[in-house]
Amino acid sequence: MIEYLSTGIHPLRNTVEQVNHHQMRVKELREELKGRGLKGYSSLKKTQLIEYLSTGIHPLKNTQVSPKIVGGEIRDPSSEGIGYSPTLFGGTEEFPINQIVSGDCINVMRSFPDGIFDCCITDPPFNMSRKKGLGWAFSSHVTMQEQWDIFAQDDYFQFTVDWITEVLRLLKTNGNLFIFGSFHCIFTIGFILQSLFNRRIISQIVWYKPNAQPNITCRMFTESTEFIIWAVNNESKKAKNWTFNYQIMKAMNNNKQMRNMWEIPLTKPSERKYGKHPSQKPSAVINRLILAGTNEGDLILDPFSGTGTTAVVAEQHKRKWIMIEKEDEYNRIAQKRVDELFSELFEDSSNSDW
Ligand SMILES: C[S@@+](CC[C@H](N)C(=O)[O-])C[C@H]1O[C@@H](n2cnc3c(N)ncnc32)[C@H](O)[C@@H]1O
Repeated sequence: MIEYLSTGIHPLRNTVEQVNHHQMRVKELREELKGRGLKGYSSLKKTQLIEYLSTGIHPLKNTQVSPKIVGGEIRDPSSEGIGYSPTLFGGTEEFPINQIVSGDCINVMRSFPDGIFDCCITDPPFNMSRKKGLGWAFSSHVTMQEQWDIFAQDDYFQFTVDWITEVLRLLKTNGNLFIFGSFHCIFTIGFILQSLFNRRIISQIVWYKPNAQPNITCRMFTESTEFIIWAVNNESKKAKNWTFNYQIMKAMNNNKQMRNMWEIPLTKPSERKYGKHPSQKPSAVINRLILAGTNEGDLILDPFSGTGTTAVVAEQHKRKWIMIEKEDEYNRIAQKRVDELFSELFEDSSNSDW
């Protein structure tokens, strides 16, 4: 019944309208792929077309095809005056759409006006770093020891209240908020959202990492999950009309309802070619969040951008974005990842006739 309500299509009846709708959708999807310069789609089924569109990877070949951006503003990252380098946004410059802002996110967010973002996807410090790390010569195990991830418990609570306060102010009413966390912080974040701010929690997604690093102490289970809280920016009882692209999720899951347990391996080396970050998220996880919770043209905020994974995936799906990150080294990596998308676009456009 929920499917019927949200789609208007009877889930059990293969009506003429449904068939027509299906055929139109397939045609649209093929046109979209053609527009992006992707090839080899004529024999693909609808679900495969959607997968190809969303990942840029041919579903039958499993080879990475360069992402391309069609429409919107096409900018040459190498030309001057475009404002692609990280900028310290002081409130006087032009609004930094599709830019990485360098600075402390709480200060930067305080300079933005209310209710401008459709969605926030963010991966904040988890407060899981330790001053002394454990290592093992025969494994790639590392204990995080990042300064930006070390807080006293009370300070972490206050820091989380402060940045969530700003994010809720900047998000539109009923806008989506996706926050990553591990057991170290997820209960604190959930408590703040639910009990302090009375926000509606829609769901908790479990990201299962099948290739998580082993536990070298052998005193506990091997940590192999992270959580993503999906909340909506409205009081629990008032929340309504949030974005959820049910059909796209279903299509990406072999035409079965998408579940909230996602098995996705750790970030691929090819996504880390411009430099390493200890907690860079795989594009595949962000990809699902963006396709599920936003629409083309939406403006997405990530106040803890790191290597800019949210920006990269947002660009691939024609969403607008603003990233904030305080470490220059991570901003340089993020900038290179974003610039790569644009240079591929320029190489391709100079070889074709559009
Ligand atoms: C968990 S990482 C995000 C990684 C990111 N999701 C990616 O895929 O690369 C959190 C990031 O927040 C940044 N950070 C921590 N505190 C910050 C603050 N107050 N303002 C801005 N950035 C901050 C850290 O430097 C770090 O890169």
